[in-house]
Amino acid sequence: MRFLVVGGGGREHALCWSLAASPLADAVLCAPGNAGIARDAECVPVAVDDIDGLVALARAREIDLVVVGPELPLVLGLVDRLEALGIRAFGPSAAAARLEGSKAFMKAFCARHGIPTAAHAVFTGDQAEAALAHVEAAPLPIVVKADGLAAGKGVVIAETRAAARDAVEAAFAGAFGAAGATLVIEEFMAGEEASLFAICDGRTALEIGTAQDHKRAHDGDQGPNTGGMGAYSPAPVLTPELIEEVLATIVRPTLDGLAAEGILYRGFLYAGLMLTAAGPKLVEYNVRYGDPECQAVLPRLMTDLGQLVVGACDGILEHMDLRWYPDHALTVVLAARGYPGPYARGSVIGGLEALEESDDVLLFHAATRREGERWLADGGRVLGITGLGATLQEARDRAYAGVARLDWPEGFCRGDIGWRALPG
Ligand code: AMP
Ligand code: GLY
Repeated sequence: MRFLVVGGGGREHALCWSLAASPLADAVLCAPGNAGIARDAECVPVAVDDIDGLVALARAREIDLVVVGPELPLVLGLVDRLEALGIRAFGPSAAAARLEGSKAFMKAFCARHGIPTAAHAVFTGDQAEAALAHVEAAPLPIVVKADGLAAGKGVVIAETRAAARDAVEAAFAGAFGAAGATLVIEEFMAGEEASLFAICDGRTALEIGTAQDHKRAHDGDQGPNTGGMGAYSPAPVLTPELIEEVLATIVRPTLDGLAAEGILYRGFLYAGLMLTAAGPKLVEYNVRYGDPECQAVLPRLMTDLGQLVVGACDGILEHMDLRWYPDHALTVVLAARGYPGPYARGSVIGGLEALEESDDVLLFHAATRREGERWLADGGRVLGITGLGATLQEARDRAYAGVARLDWPEGFCRGDIGWRALPG
């Protein structure tokens, strides 16, 4: 089979690396990919939002199955376009991708189907006064969210009335662009966060890993929110009982609810969870794998990913089961200094070649390019280094030993990935 992976970050590197090892794969292409991904897949420079270009690529290169990494092409309807042409695609349709693309849609959907999540209210731009009155009366802290895709930056947790008012006013003044034209204001949920990933074929959802992410830029969960600075898998807080509860109360009712509304959900589904005193509740859905979580989950997966995505497209997940290596995995993200704010591109990363050849870690490239023999940083999050081990501590030690072998003064990483699950 000929696979095409859409995307060019660390997640897509992990997907390409897994698919390249599949006995089903005759070829793996990646659009646009990056210099590191080029070791596992043939990279073709078509951007993730160039839907016409991606469709043309899939046709021209006789792709049998397209695996879509990021949310943007999903929300833009790439899967619908491919399917209309008879090309198999693993990822939700634009209608199903609204679970991530619109928080107002997601919250109303959860309310319709009894899926546990924070209580909420929705306000459009002409309802600014009502929104302000709402935050004046509601218990603190209160959470103010932009409705649309805002790259993780559209959420404010307001501890004071003044901060809540500011958040509402800023959103309606355009701080989140079009994504903030509609606001979701919701109850604050206290608890520990964890993520559960599912692979779905429209009717059946199988758990494909749990993880905990580290969203803040700096140690001790300080600094601005990022796309994620590191992750580990499995997440020990998600016990087998909790996993079953999440599948039974959140994930399966979501698939069934969508099906009842005429929408088939096929693809990875990422449930961002809050483990509250009253049980697990949904913080958000993402209609894709997490990044960097994917880089910590896939190395643990024993079942062939190629077979799983084909099984999902064929609607036979009910008859498949997932097997895992017993290892723990921990991924440390290396980012360019300044990220998630402004940063420079083009600095040289030393020691990468040697690390690439070592068996101690897996190196996933999020944004690199080559210039002759040199490897250069080419984005905000640049590399993910995954260590595996019989314990989480061992996985962590391996990952950081790998980090220490790189010579990249213009980069940084957090030094405390895994702290929640490790003693002291
Ligand atoms: P979201 O983009 O919806 O995932 O929100 C980003 C982050 O804000 C989450 O990962 C949580 O840490 C936090 N958050 C969002 N909604 C809530 C909520 N209702 N209660 C507590 N924390 C929240
Ligand atoms: N690491 C968080 C995300 O992928 O959304």
